[in-house]
Amino acid sequence: MLSAKAEQFTESVIREMTRLAQKHNAVNLSQGFPDFAAPAEIKEAARQAIADDINQYAITWGAKPLRDAIVEKFARTQNVRVDPEREITICCGSTEAMMSAMMAIINPGDEIVVFEPFYENYGPDAILSGATPRFVRMQPPKDTNSEWTYDQDELAAAFNEHTKAIILNTPNNPTGKVFTRGELEFIRDLCVRHNTFCITDEIYEHILYDGTAHISMAQIDGMRERTIVINGLSKTYSVTGWRVGWAIAPPHATQSIRKVHDFLTVGAAAPLQQAGAAALQFPQSYYDKLSESYVVKRERLLKILTAAGFTVYKPRGAYYIMTDIVRFDFPHDDPRFAAPSRDVAFARYLVQEIGVACVPGSSFYNNAQDGASQVRFTFCKKEETLAAAEERFRKLRL
Ligand SMILES: Cc1ncc(COP(=O)(O)O)c(C=O)c1O
Repeated sequence: MLSAKAEQFTESVIREMTRLAQKHNAVNLSQGFPDFAAPAEIKEAARQAIADDINQYAITWGAKPLRDAIVEKFARTQNVRVDPEREITICCGSTEAMMSAMMAIINPGDEIVVFEPFYENYGPDAILSGATPRFVRMQPPKDTNSEWTYDQDELAAAFNEHTKAIILNTPNNPTGKVFTRGELEFIRDLCVRHNTFCITDEIYEHILYDGTAHISMAQIDGMRERTIVINGLSKTYSVTGWRVGWAIAPPHATQSIRKVHDFLTVGAAAPLQQAGAAALQFPQSYYDKLSESYVVKRERLLKILTAAGFTVYKPRGAYYIMTDIVRFDFPHDDPRFAAPSRDVAFARYLVQEIGVACVPGSSFYNNAQDGASQVRFTFCKKEETLAAAEERFRKLRL
């Protein structure tokens, strides 16, 4: 009776973990939303927009001041010039931008290439848009100075005449990998050879460590005409609940994205688009401070998790730490934690018995068993939240 497509995926595990954290009064290091205040200037801009009566539908593909601000910032930070009239669609979060982009380009029989582990939304995005995903595995770093890697031959072999797009996410959730220019150029060569799009989720563009730089695929020679950039306000300005994101795409793709977007949601909240336009004009010092504050939080959580016995993979960007839990001996046979894979049982044990919520690794893999020894923590939290997690972890035994 119900949709065969909707039957193929489950509720979001990440968002379920947040609900479990609330139920068990646990410290929530699962879902990636900051628990600290957004910048005063962006909040004031939103208040002002409502006072100014920006309360009706914006133009469906986005308020002009926000589109103009995106054009200016993309040129300033990535040296890529786009047309606000023909190449930008403002959506309800980058979540909707990704879904609209996929629905706008996918036809029955099309395939997409996806690096694995992947941000869990890409699975349902593929199913709902009708794309068949081909996964390319990334391997964890061997030590703290090395990176998540993948096999170039395996990546090349994932492309064929049915490939419509590769989904890239840099800086990456959950691994923290930041793709280098060399890696982007290798992907570019495959996209050009097989005449495919690259949909690149760049929502963590300003959260970078260890001197890494974010390079948008749109600035790689030969990619401007085949790249769809997904981005938004959520992470850069700590306003995940505002639901403002966007897609930057060449005009022919934008035409299609705008139609899908219009009939899905009509538009994102008008006053919050106005506030977003103000935020995108923040000086460089804002982004420097954002990154600096996350450097401190990353070090803090790396230390806490290492002391608690986790094997940690140091992220180069974004605000998550992937860990390995293979060393933990926990009561996984206890019916209270019963689960199809060990990581889910561990996450249930952790939230119920220890009082810390994380995301089970299997939610980032197509085959649950492949993530069975991993869990992910986020550090976009206040110091007191991280300190509370440290305290709770004292009960955790190897
Ligand atoms: C890689 C990635 N893309 C997109 C999103 C969702 O962004 P938005 O709030 O703009 O929908 C997230 C949120 O965690 C994410 O990690």
